[in-house]
Amino acid sequence: MRSIVDKFNTAAIYITHDLAVVAQMADRIKVLRYGEEVEESETREMLSNPKEEYTKSLWSVRSLIKPEQTNDDYMLSIKNIDAAYGTSKVLHDVSVNIPRGKTVAIVGESGSGKSTTARVITGLLPQTKGEIIFDGKKLSPKLEQRSKEELRRIQIIFQMPDTAMNPKQTVDEIIGRPIEFYHGVKGKERETKVIELLKMIELDETFLDRLPSELSGGQKQRICIARALAANPDLIICDEVTSALDQIVQEGILKLLQKLQKDLGVTYIFITHDIATVKAISDEIVVMYQGKVVEQGLKSKILNPPHPDYTELLLSSVPEMDPDWLTNLLNKRSS
Ligand SMILES: Nc1ncnc2c1ncn2[C@@H]1O[C@H](COP(=O)(O)OP(=O)(O)OP(=O)(O)O)[C@@H](O)[C@H]1O
Ligand SMILES: [Mg+2]
Repeated sequence: MRSIVDKFNTAAIYITHDLAVVAQMADRIKVLRYGEEVEESETREMLSNPKEEYTKSLWSVRSLIKPEQTNDDYMLSIKNIDAAYGTSKVLHDVSVNIPRGKTVAIVGESGSGKSTTARVITGLLPQTKGEIIFDGKKLSPKLEQRSKEELRRIQIIFQMPDTAMNPKQTVDEIIGRPIEFYHGVKGKERETKVIELLKMIELDETFLDRLPSELSGGQKQRICIARALAANPDLIICDEVTSALDQIVQEGILKLLQKLQKDLGVTYIFITHDIATVKAISDEIVVMYQGKVVEQGLKSKILNPPHPDYTELLLSSVPEMDPDWLTNLLNKRSS
């Protein structure tokens, strides 16, 4: 993007929540909130000296850091999984263990097979080799052959909330359906439960009659989280659930997910590109590359050197708030 702007003298507007990226790309930054301008200035000035409280809170470093823990009691084990789309094989002998009540982050570049692994676990894409053990019992590769209880206990929050909801269903129907389907709760009780879930994700009953097209990206993502919680699952697979959210809303969602883990013992698989999120919430980390597992271990082990070459490349590619980060990295890699 930056070289295009330089080469063709193009004017660019970069709309994002990702402040570290903006620090590399932008000459000026404008901060918006509730449809109004909060402040605008040169990038370096804005990063080093924000004037408004709201901007300062966006810039503040994440306060959440979960102390890591692990155990050998696995909620889920995937063993030597191969999977393919038609004739194109994308997972090669993937094995991952997910300790009960803990959070395992899966990281790796775009196309490395993270979402595909999630699809295999949920039965949406049956594996061609290997097995999945859930709570001590082998899961059938095919969704249709799993019991309703097995389906209830594993929920996924999809990467793209835009396509994960039926555009014709209201928020009430989207969250209410799993409550009725899995728990047989109807009528007034169902409504109370839907509103309770809306409160958990910091929305209220004014959203009940809205369609997905009438929600912001972050609100859609929160509705998808509420829908997963409605099943009362034991394992939740979160596929890039906070990537579309600003720092403040992100932190709110991460805290909520952690609270559920503490209160209910929910186990998470957390798929993300965002290493800051990984640091904040994970116990263990799995690194994937080209459909294979590079390594799995405790957060402290994976994030601290020495690293395998691929992990080193991945970690060194994470943008930092320093506006010179990209320039320095490119210089270093070309020298
Ligand atoms: N429905 C599909 N049909 C064919 N190939 C697919 C399909 N979905 C994904 N792939 C391919 O499978 C590989 C792994 O994709 P996957 O979606 O698992 O990556 P990912 O790690 O989740 O990437 P990202 O971080 O971009 O979400 C990629 O090469 C991708 O092109
Ligand atoms: Mg993906």
